[in-house]
Amino acid sequence: MSVPQPPEPIPGARLLFSLDPAVSHLNHGSFGAVPIGVQRAQQRLRDEMEANPLRFFTQGLVDRVAHTRRHLATFLGADPDGTALVGNATTGVAVVLQSLGLRAGDEILSTDHGYGAVSFSIQRECRRTGAESRVLPIPLAATDEEIVQAVRAALRPGRTRLLVVDQLTSATARLFPVAAIVGLAREHGVPVLVDAAHVPGMLSATVASVGADFWVGNLHKWGYAPRGTAVLVVAPPWRDRIEPLVVSWEQETGFPARLEWQATLDYTSWLAAPAGLFTLRSLGVDRVRAHNAALAAYAQRVVGDALGVAPTHLPDPGGPEVAMRIIPLPPGIATTIDGARALQQRIAERLATEVAVMAWNDQGWLRLCGQVYNSPDEYERLAVRLPPLLAQR
Ligand SMILES: Cc1ncc(COP(=O)(O)O)c(C=O)c1O
Repeated sequence: MSVPQPPEPIPGARLLFSLDPAVSHLNHGSFGAVPIGVQRAQQRLRDEMEANPLRFFTQGLVDRVAHTRRHLATFLGADPDGTALVGNATTGVAVVLQSLGLRAGDEILSTDHGYGAVSFSIQRECRRTGAESRVLPIPLAATDEEIVQAVRAALRPGRTRLLVVDQLTSATARLFPVAAIVGLAREHGVPVLVDAAHVPGMLSATVASVGADFWVGNLHKWGYAPRGTAVLVVAPPWRDRIEPLVVSWEQETGFPARLEWQATLDYTSWLAAPAGLFTLRSLGVDRVRAHNAALAAYAQRVVGDALGVAPTHLPDPGGPEVAMRIIPLPPGIATTIDGARALQQRIAERLATEVAVMAWNDQGWLRLCGQVYNSPDEYERLAVRLPPLLAQR
């Protein structure tokens, strides 16, 4: 197996961010990082808002939000008329779940690679309505074909009212064959919600190519947008049936404005989101994607080697653009959510390094991301310093 080479750095990219230089930030995937230029764009909008709040909210804000929505949808390859801005992926999921009109006897099918907060949301909606939540286990090493087969076998047409799948999973950093899954579910009449929280900015696949009934993606992770910026894309048959969590003044306007206008909030993160895409485009979208994916592959190999993990035991993300990778931790380490949190905090405090530690399937995993502000030596340093830290249990 050839050793992945670290990518050439993108000159000056680190200087675009205000990240603490005393810390290695190897976990872009959890909360992103907002470039300085985007922070300034948002601050200018806030200055405008504070100069005359009445004018800001009542003269043109709805149109400015609509303009932003069209900009973001076009970048994502989504139908602008089917796209609504929401605060985050978690909110988009909740909007869909509570719009389904579930009843006792219905079920929601999801996989064991799903995001924890989304699972809680499914469970609550099921408790509220008497529906059932069924979780399909999918082995980490399953091929795309095996994943599709497993989903096919698990669908219960007539009973499964929604299938929830991640386009790129959080805990396992695995790309799922979502277009094939959506096609198969459609044959069986089962609507699909694709949780694409990590997709905007990282992956080139368009929203249209997935074809889901519902697709939710965060711009505030890999799209460099201010936090609080996500989109929910809805297929035509559902648009009139989608209800916001909070009813406000655009309720009678219908989709998407009724979802977007959520009373008095700070809408500047949405309005500044195109500045995030501008940063991405200025650096070169393809160049950023190639850089980040190559750096994550290098990180996985360097840290995996240091932990004694054979290259054949390093999980493959299932696609060339994935900019986060996981490494199994030694047996018995971080096998529970509490254990994983404690280790993540210990690594942050003792090694001045931010990483994600996850417990998945009774095994602890380290997740490392690649971003334009990272350099190979940050992972090399972690590779030297992590094994002794793990040894001092
Ligand atoms: C797969 C997945 N879904 C949903 C979310 C939730 O995102 P947010 O906190 O922006 O709602 C995340 C966040 O990391 C995620 O990885």
